[in-house]
Formats: sequence, C-alpha cells, structure tokens
Amino acid sequence: MAKQRIGVLTGGGDAPGLNPAIRAVVYRAADEGIETVGIYDGWEGLLDGFADQTWTLDIPTVRTWDRDGGTNLGSSRTNPFKRGNGATRSDDSGQVLRNIEKLGLEGLVAIGGEDTLGVAKKLADAGAPVVGIPKTIDKDLSATDYTLGFDTSVRTVAEIVERSRTPAGSHHWVQVVEVMGRHAGHLAFWAGLAGGAYLTLIPEHPFDFERVKALLDERLAPNPSDRRIPRYAVIVAAEGAMPRGGKEITVDAQVDEFGHVRLGGVGAWLAERIRTETVHDARAVALGHPQRGGPPSPTDRHMGWLFGVAAVEAIVRRAWGKMVSARGIAPACDISLVALADAVVRLNLVDVPRYYDTDRYQAKRRVL
Ligand code: F6P
Repeated sequence: MAKQRIGVLTGGGDAPGLNPAIRAVVYRAADEGIETVGIYDGWEGLLDGFADQTWTLDIPTVRTWDRDGGTNLGSSRTNPFKRGNGATRSDDSGQVLRNIEKLGLEGLVAIGGEDTLGVAKKLADAGAPVVGIPKTIDKDLSATDYTLGFDTSVRTVAEIVERSRTPAGSHHWVQVVEVMGRHAGHLAFWAGLAGGAYLTLIPEHPFDFERVKALLDERLAPNPSDRRIPRYAVIVAAEGAMPRGGKEITVDAQVDEFGHVRLGGVGAWLAERIRTETVHDARAVALGHPQRGGPPSPTDRHMGWLFGVAAVEAIVRRAWGKMVSARGIAPACDISLVALADAVVRLNLVDVPRYYDTDRYQAKRRVL
C-alpha cells in the first residue's frame, strides 16, 4: 500500500516560527508513517503550472529548521478564489482542489493569517482536507491567544525602540518609529511598552495631532533649573494608525488579491508635521520587513512545535476545517482545535478599554 501523504504550505507575510512549525509537522507525521510534502509559495503552489513541483520533506531535511527565520517553502499572497488583478480576477480554486487530489494529499496543513486561513476555510467548505496553523506578526486572528511570529517581532521592534532612545536623547529630538500592524496595534502597543516609547499610536484609536503636540510639549518643556529632564521622546506608530477624521496612509493605490492596500508613511508624515508645526525636531524610521526577519525566539519555537504536532493530530482525526489554537502561551498553554471560521470571522484587535490610555496614547496605569 502506498505511504499516506500530507502537504504543508505557508501563505501571506513570512514570520519567524513558520519553519519550526513545518519541522514539527514532519516529525509528527513521520511517527504516524505519513510522508510530508512541502508546497512552494503558499496557495500558488497548488495551482496548475506550479503544483508539479513539490518538496518531499523528511526528518534529516528539516532537522535544523527550528533555527530558521522566514519560510523555507516560500510564500505568496495568492488568492485562488480571486486570482489576477483589476477586472481580470478569476476563481481558480477548482485547480487547487484537483491538485490536492492529484498529489495524493490526504491532508493539508495551511500555515497563515486571516487571508491564507480564509482561503483554507473556503476550501474546507468545498470538501478539501485542510487544517490551519495561525501565523501573523500582527496577532489579529481570533480564536487563539497566539499567532506564530508575534513574540520574535515584538522583541525585534522593542529592541529598536529602546535603541532609538539614546540617539534621540543625545540630540534632543522626537523619534517616530513606524512598525507593522495593518488593522491591529498589538505589535506597536506591546513593543512600545517594552521599548519605553512615550506615545504609541494604534489603528484601533485614531489620534488627535493637537493632543500629540500637547503631550510632546508637556514632556519636552525646557526646565532651566534642571537640564537632565527628558529632552527627547519616542513615538511608535503602527502603519495603520491614522489621524482622527483622516485615513490610513498608503504606499500606492494598488490592492492585492485579498483587497489590501500597502500601508506605509504615517511615521514620516507625523515627523514632518512635528518638525513644521511644533518647536521640536523630529526623525522618522519605518522598520519595514526586517521586523518580520531573523531567527525565531524560544516562544516561537515552542509554539511552532506545539502547533505543528497538533495539526498532524488533527489530520489523523480528520478534523477538516479546524485550526490549532492556544489558550495562553507556552510553557503555560492549552492547545485545542477551533473552527477556521471562528478564527477569520473578525479581527482580534487591541482591547482598548482594558489596556490603552486614550488620553495619553500609552499603556494604562491601571491593571486590576
Ligand atoms: O500581515 C502581516 C504584515 O506584516 C502586515 O503587518 C503588513 O501590513 C503586511 O504584512 C506587509 O505586507 P507585505 O509583506 O506584502 O509587504
């Protein structure tokens, strides 16, 4: 009898933790006598013209992947239900369904965020044997406390926020640090808190520029009798943060196959306004894709392992249309299966009333 086979793919923006999860899938599948096939470049790899090339993964191949950032399988933002651009979008999902069968995949692990798992849900509805693993540095998927990549990115961003305090302090300027986070400010908020940002602007709460000015004036007011007071400020701005009454700042007008525009520029916009409309000097840096880079943190390795193992267990149980989910984060977490539909039904946003001081644009000084 032919060996059972399953597939694994990674879609959407890459993130540290993907490779540890793929590795765990291969290890757990091998225990069951199941062969794992790597699909290249997300859903694109299951379309006609691409599905004829796959990568059979065994333990010697993936043994050291726990140390690797990004995804060794490659990724794409392909939406098989709406392929192409502009008026020429086509539903090619039938190709994916056919190629899953052609490749003899008795199960498929899709690792991704709202877009990749949204496709996984629709394919599962159409009868495909799909299970999901949550991944996104934005941490905006519902029905799970953890999404792969978040911890590593928070560490990277927090370190840069912290490092930006010394040049800003030495030169007495306002440093704006623009970080990723399209609709959700989890990364900006927690990295801002850990890195010591004075203000953090998140998509969930449009900011008032006049208030930003007032808060800067409050912190940076000269005190002739004590020159040691802070004479700098760091502002973390999520790329999706927007001024009250305004809208998101985008790189260009193009939308991808999931209908997303490329955000970017709010940091530079804010620094320019601070320079021209206040007495303070300002600099801006947009961290961009490197904040998704680098080796996975221990937490991303732990969670990648637990999610990967659980995904194969879900396949063995034929729990199609499910996503592995964590309540809590390793080492104190419970792993379970939830419906993919529940993960993508709405975005998981920062709990503003609980954590965010909407007057001072920073973490609340009240926890209980
Ligand atoms: O969804 C994850 C994310 O990192 C967002 O924070 C960001 O808006 C987007 O990906 C960037 O997309 P791309 O990698 O296609 O430039």
